[in-house]
Amino acid sequence: MSTEHIDLPQLVAACGTLSLPGSKSLSNRLLLLAALAEGETELHDLLLSDDTQRMLDALATLGVGVERLAGRTFRVRGVGGVFPVREADLFLGNAGTAFRPLTAVLALAGGNYRLAGVARMHERPIGDLVDALRQIGADMDYLAEAGFPPLAIRPPAPERNVSASVVRLRGDVSSQFLSGLLMALPLRAGATTVEVVGELISQPYVDLTLATMASFGVPVERDGWRRFTVPAGSRYRSPGRLQVEGDASSASYFLALGALGGGPLRVTGVGRDSLQGDVRFADALARMGARVAVGDRWIEASAPAGGGRLRGMELDCNPIPDAAMTLATLALFADGPTTLRRIASWRVKETDRIAAMACELRKLGATVDEGDDWLRVSPPPAGDLRPATIDTYDDHRMAMCFSLAAFGTPLRINDPATVGKTFPDYFARFVELTQPVPVVAIDGTSASGKGTIAARVAAALGWHYLDSGALYRLTALAARRAGVACDDEAAVAAIAGRLDVEFAGDAIRLAGEEVGDAIRHEEISVAASRVAALPAVRAALLFRQRAFRRPPGLVADGRDMGSVVFPDSPTKVFLTASLEIRAMRRHKQLIDKGIAANIADLVLDLRERDERDSQRSVAPMQQSKDAHLLDTSDLTIVSAVAQVLDWVRGCPQKG
Ligand code: DC
Repeated sequence: MSTEHIDLPQLVAACGTLSLPGSKSLSNRLLLLAALAEGETELHDLLLSDDTQRMLDALATLGVGVERLAGRTFRVRGVGGVFPVREADLFLGNAGTAFRPLTAVLALAGGNYRLAGVARMHERPIGDLVDALRQIGADMDYLAEAGFPPLAIRPPAPERNVSASVVRLRGDVSSQFLSGLLMALPLRAGATTVEVVGELISQPYVDLTLATMASFGVPVERDGWRRFTVPAGSRYRSPGRLQVEGDASSASYFLALGALGGGPLRVTGVGRDSLQGDVRFADALARMGARVAVGDRWIEASAPAGGGRLRGMELDCNPIPDAAMTLATLALFADGPTTLRRIASWRVKETDRIAAMACELRKLGATVDEGDDWLRVSPPPAGDLRPATIDTYDDHRMAMCFSLAAFGTPLRINDPATVGKTFPDYFARFVELTQPVPVVAIDGTSASGKGTIAARVAAALGWHYLDSGALYRLTALAARRAGVACDDEAAVAAIAGRLDVEFAGDAIRLAGEEVGDAIRHEEISVAASRVAALPAVRAALLFRQRAFRRPPGLVADGRDMGSVVFPDSPTKVFLTASLEIRAMRRHKQLIDKGIAANIADLVLDLRERDERDSQRSVAPMQQSKDAHLLDTSDLTIVSAVAQVLDWVRGCPQKG
């Protein structure tokens, strides 16, 4: 698993407008049909993502001319049903929207092909599609486990020897089998009827396939959701120019953000007449109490009227299998349990999404029950989510769904780059449209008065206060007590990672014991400065510090609050005072506490600590470019606090 992560601050609001990236389902269908068609097709607003890149690469390998005209506009030179390259190896990653239809099309295309993907793709079933294709003469084998990719394909038996013009296909594992098969059937000369055996899941995706085929001149005759006939002599013909709708599944995250964060949050690119089934996510959101408005090419969501909570509900999710995942994390914010039914297909997607969802939701404090094809999410009592590190299982939707939890807690999301499958700049758009809990970052030299000033600013604002230096001091104290040397980086970092601390009012407890005074001793000050120079220790304490950012706001003091821990802080202050004044202040503090001290030693000590803190390789103490400098040598505490409050109040929050 990747060690990369993104830390999301807790959010207080979301609003604005997002122009959606193109639909993945439409982009890959249109690319494939444009490739098979007679004539050239210009595709506008195509999705640029990992999954569409897999399809583009495959088409290039098969000899199809695809040219990027500009931005998201592509020209595809159709091959009229015959790929120029008759023998090829294709790697399709984990792109189901490329793997399934290409399997069907290449099985009937008359060449020798091998189709493979990533390990997870080889765990996703494809046997039902292969069984169906074999009924119409496909000659193909499993290269590893029967029923699963990778596959080897040879030219099919000549059509005249194949009596079957009726193909039976199971419909209850993945609708992509039916979609892929239907898209391939115009490669046959005769009429072919597909009879669906058992239930057909995710019908809206089949509708999308039929609409796409129709736009390339192939009308499929449909008899309920049981029989589909592709007429004899069907051939794809380019309609010339096509526009790809925005992705309705991607829209769901932002509509949910609008519902959680006040809104209005508008997505453009899909609307009332969308071909995509996932637009019906908006209806589900409205059922949960959000205010939803729909236009021709936009949808907008806002929080429930009167500031009420969302309502828990029970829903048959068969028509919206992908967007339904968004409901699972939205359920964290409902007034009661939410039950999602008929989601068996989740088990064979990018990961076992039912198991993955349940595991990660529990980390946040939710109670989750699951069955073969259902999931029930009960929010934590009183709605308090726990800060957590969320794993994403190589699944783009896991990463995007869990970003919503930031409305209840700061959280860390592992491997955020997995969103590249369908929405590469997801987190950049997310940050633009959301407003985090505000934070005032106060950094500065030792004994410059940061702690006193920061605590008073926090009290004046009614915000939380983080004394980040205390965490380094606690780490140093815990290391000393464990007999670990200050420079044993791995051992000290391990101690920092599992520090059992509690800040309760003025009390600071380490493993239940009050240590407020113990961590202020000079030898712990020196040890803290040493352990703070170790990169692994700083990394181990990073998320813990960010987790203090809770509504209504946070005032944090330290050395790298503005530069590393809260770089997005709208108010940054760098505090200092002359060395002599700082030594005198520290001297008075120590004497008041009954601790013996000498000014000359303190001057030396402070100078050494400043040097170590400002010259270490990671997160050195420094004045950020966007920080206000405040020299407190000649200032009273009251006037320093007043100055910081002026800066805070004069600094508009984002959003
Ligand atoms: O602010 P303080 O004196 O309590 O901090 C104790 C030590 O921890 C100090 O020598 C520097 C280090 N520290 C740090 O490196 N980064 C912070 N954000 C806070 C403190």
